[in-house]
Amino acid sequence: MTHKNFKNIDKVAFGRGAFNQLAETIEPIRKENKNYFVYIVDHYFKGKTLSNRLQNKPEDLIYFIDVDPHEPTTEQIDVLRDEILSKKGLPSGVIGIGGGSIMDIAKALSLMLTNEGSSTLYQGLNLVKKPGIYHLGIPTISGTGAEVSMTAVLTGPEKKLGLKCDWTVFNQVILDPELIASVPRDWWFYTGMDTYIHCIESHSGIRNNAFSLAYGDKSLELCREVYLSGKSGQTPENDDKLMIASLMGGLSLTYSEVGVCHAISYGLSKILGTRHCYANCIIFQHLGDIYPKGVSEFNQMIEKHKITLPKNLSKDWDDETLTAMATVSYNLPFMWNHAFGDNYKEIATIDYIKNLFLRL
Ligand SMILES: [Fe+2]
Repeated sequence: MTHKNFKNIDKVAFGRGAFNQLAETIEPIRKENKNYFVYIVDHYFKGKTLSNRLQNKPEDLIYFIDVDPHEPTTEQIDVLRDEILSKKGLPSGVIGIGGGSIMDIAKALSLMLTNEGSSTLYQGLNLVKKPGIYHLGIPTISGTGAEVSMTAVLTGPEKKLGLKCDWTVFNQVILDPELIASVPRDWWFYTGMDTYIHCIESHSGIRNNAFSLAYGDKSLELCREVYLSGKSGQTPENDDKLMIASLMGGLSLTYSEVGVCHAISYGLSKILGTRHCYANCIIFQHLGDIYPKGVSEFNQMIEKHKITLPKNLSKDWDDETLTAMATVSYNLPFMWNHAFGDNYKEIATIDYIKNLFLRL
């Protein structure tokens, strides 16, 4: 058995107001390549206060990207890469400011600026041939763990799969809890639950170990303080905790694996375009037989924050749709193996997976 041997983020700044250090943080990197930075900023911030605080120089390129219509695609990255290179040549670095999708776009772009051809060629583990350029992530919503992960998840014509290698990991992350204060309440819930589900799934399976459990336990403790305790809710103190919970949840799953909820979630997102964190919440409520304690606690958090999740979605799905979704999920064997053990193939058949989708 090969033991996981992952690269961490090179540098992490943490604290209220840390965002103000962006200009000085990137100053030494401006010497590289064509001496300019590309900013990838969530469209949500266009015209808002944050867009006046970007600390950019006149030569920098700023892209406000709307991540609402769909999760990042291979085509989107290819088009963006070609446009940037033809406009100004190779940048000194890429800065991503936003949620998980923006983190993924910044990571993927950094790699694709130096690797030729379409990003579809590199979806998978260690397929990227050359190191990307310097990239820096600044999360404005916490929970996906994209700020720490070694994968940049992209939806392509054939698969939803990450560009996964050591070079994917950010060179620098700035964690400023003030930036997540204005997250709408429902998304604050869905994304935080992504972290919670990462930890439950990381713990419940054959791949957990002292490393993943230590990060996962601490992350779960923080999630409970943020979403379940008497002091739960969107407070400055809880925003600090949630940012760290997201980071630690990401590290927990990196050294273990996610499970059934994420496998189903990938199928739902790939075929119907449902956003990752929201999809997880829609699914997790129905997995009480697989993750009994986790689902019962999840339901308490749903109740506490008066979140309503859709049910009976599957009544509108024909067999073709179900089969397509189940096939995407089925093709994530490492998740099923982790969740169900070495005889997972006997349990996680296409029919079994279709039945899980029918619960939704
Ligand atoms: Fe996730």
